[in-house]
Amino acid sequence: MQNVSENRVLIYIFGGSGDLAHRKLYPALFNLYRKNHIKHNFAVIGTARRDWSDDYYRSTILKSLEELPGSFNQKNSFTKHFYYQAHDVTDSKHYIALDNLGIELEKKYETQGNRIFYMAMAPKFFATIAEHLKSQNLVSEKGYNRIVIEKPFGRDFASAKELNDAISDTFSEDQIYRIDHYLGKEMVLGLLPLRFSNPFFEQVWNRDFIDNIQINLNEELGVEDRAGYYETAGALRDMVQNHIMQILALTTLGAPEKMSAEALRDQKQKLFAGLQVYKPEEVSKYFVRGQYGASDIPDHEPAYRDEPNVAPNSTIETFVAGEVHIDNDQWRGVPIFIRTGKRLPEKNSRIDVVFKPRQNPIFSQPDEPNILTIEIEPEEGVALQFNGKKIGQTTDPARYQLTYQHSKAEIAQVLDAYERLIYDVILGDHTNFSHWLELEKTWKFVDAIRQYWDNNAPTDFPNYKSGTAGPAASDSLLQRSNRQWIYQPEPRTTR
Ligand SMILES: NC(=O)c1ccc[n+]([C@@H]2O[C@H](COP(=O)([O-])OP(=O)(O)OC[C@H]3O[C@@H](n4cnc5c(N)ncnc54)[C@H](OP(=O)(O)O)[C@@H]3O)[C@@H](O)[C@H]2O)c1
Repeated sequence: MQNVSENRVLIYIFGGSGDLAHRKLYPALFNLYRKNHIKHNFAVIGTARRDWSDDYYRSTILKSLEELPGSFNQKNSFTKHFYYQAHDVTDSKHYIALDNLGIELEKKYETQGNRIFYMAMAPKFFATIAEHLKSQNLVSEKGYNRIVIEKPFGRDFASAKELNDAISDTFSEDQIYRIDHYLGKEMVLGLLPLRFSNPFFEQVWNRDFIDNIQINLNEELGVEDRAGYYETAGALRDMVQNHIMQILALTTLGAPEKMSAEALRDQKQKLFAGLQVYKPEEVSKYFVRGQYGASDIPDHEPAYRDEPNVAPNSTIETFVAGEVHIDNDQWRGVPIFIRTGKRLPEKNSRIDVVFKPRQNPIFSQPDEPNILTIEIEPEEGVALQFNGKKIGQTTDPARYQLTYQHSKAEIAQVLDAYERLIYDVILGDHTNFSHWLELEKTWKFVDAIRQYWDNNAPTDFPNYKSGTAGPAASDSLLQRSNRQWIYQPEPRTTR
C-alpha cells in the first residue's frame, strides 16, 4: 500500500557518472531510503555523456554503497529507482529525452510533478543547463522545482553574478539551493543552540568580553587528483569565500527573531554588511598565503609544484591565514583569525573563542583567558577552559577544562552532511543553504585579497613544509598583538 505521507520526488542528477555523485549523493540518498525518508515514490535520472545502460549505472551505484550498512536486497531495491540517460548537456535534444523519461517515471512513481535538478558537474555547465530546463519545458508546472548547485559558485563576484543571473532566469531564489556541506555538519548546526540557549554564553558574546575568535579548517591531504580545479581556485576561493565565511557568520551573527531560514538570512546579511573589505595596501597586513613544499620525511609527500597536473612554477596558495574584522557594535575591534590549508599536520576543523583576560583585583596574578572550543571534526564536541585552584594546601591557580563530546556511536546514527542537506532540499527548507546576497558580500571580500595577490606574485613559495602548520608569517599575524593560535598541532613526523 502506498504511504501517503511519503516524500514524492523525481531527482535529475546532472553528472550522474561522476565522482561527487558516487562518493556523496548515492550514499546519502541510500541512507535516506534506509531511514524511510524516501521509499516508494521517488525516482532518479542520472545523466552524463558516457553510454551506460540502466543496469550498468545501477551496478556503479551498488558499488558506491559497499561500505554502508544494509542488506544486498535492500540496496538492490534502492537502485531499481535509478535510470540512466546518456547525452551531452550542451545539446538541446538531450532535454527532450530527459523530459520524456521524466514524464514516464513521474507516472510510474507518482511523484506529483515534484522535481529536483542536482548540478553535480562543472560549474561552467550550470547556466546552459538552467536555460535548457526552461526552454525545453523540464520545469514542472504541477509540483515544485528546485535546483541544487555545488561549489564553486563563480570564481569572483562578476562571474558569480553572471551565473546567478543566468540561473535566476529559470529559478527564483527560493528554488535555488546552494550547497555548502559545512552547513550540514553537526557542530556547525549546533552553533546557534549553543550561543542562544545558554545565557552564560549569550551575555558575554561581544567585544566587551571576547578578545578574539579563531576559525581553523585544516586539511591533512594535499591536492590529490583535483589539481585541474585547484590550480584555478586556491585556498582563498576554495575554502574562505564559502565554508569559513559561513562558519564565521554563524559564530558572530546577532540573535535571529526565531529559527527560520528568513530570520537567519536577515541576520547573516546584517553581519556581512559590517564585513571590512581590505584596501590593496591593507591586504599584506591582514592576510598571509602559503604553498606547501615537500615534507621532511624522505620520499614522502611531494611539494605542491611536483603534484600531478600542477604547473612547476605555480603561485596558487594552498594555505591562507587572515585577520577579519566586523565593523558593528557587537564586534568592533575584535579580530577574527581564520586559517585553512592543505598538508597541515592533521585534519581538524574547530572554532576557538578566546575571552578577555583580566588583571584580577583579588588574586595577585592576572587571569588566564577563558577559552571555549567548538570541535567540528574529526571529534564533535565542546571544551571550556577556565581557572581554578591547584588541588592541595596551596592557593596556586590551576587550569580546568570541561569537555563534552558526541560519542562515536551517536555520530554514526545521525544524518551526514550531504544526507541532511539533500533531505532539506526535499523538504524545501532553506535554513542551511547560502543566499545570493551572502555570496555577493563574501565574494567582494575575497576579490579584494585575490586582486592584490594576483598583482603581487609571491616570491617565497613554497614557504611551508608538508606536515607543518603553515608559514611562520601565520604565527606573526597573531604575535604582533601578543596573541597566539590556540590550536598548535605538532608537525607530522610519520607516514
Ligand atoms: N568531487 C567532490 O568531492 C566535490 C566536492 C565539492 C564540490 N564538487 C563539485 O561538484 C561538481 C562535480 O564534481 P565531480 O568531482 O563529481 O566531477 P567529475 O567526477 O569530473 O564529474 C563530472 C560529471 O560531468 C559529466 N559531464 C562532463 N561534461 C559533460 C557534458 N558536456 N554533458 C553531460 N555530462 C557531462 C561527466 O560524465 P561524462 O564524462 O560521462 O560526460 C561526469 O559525470 C563540480 O562542480 C565540483 O566542483 C565536487
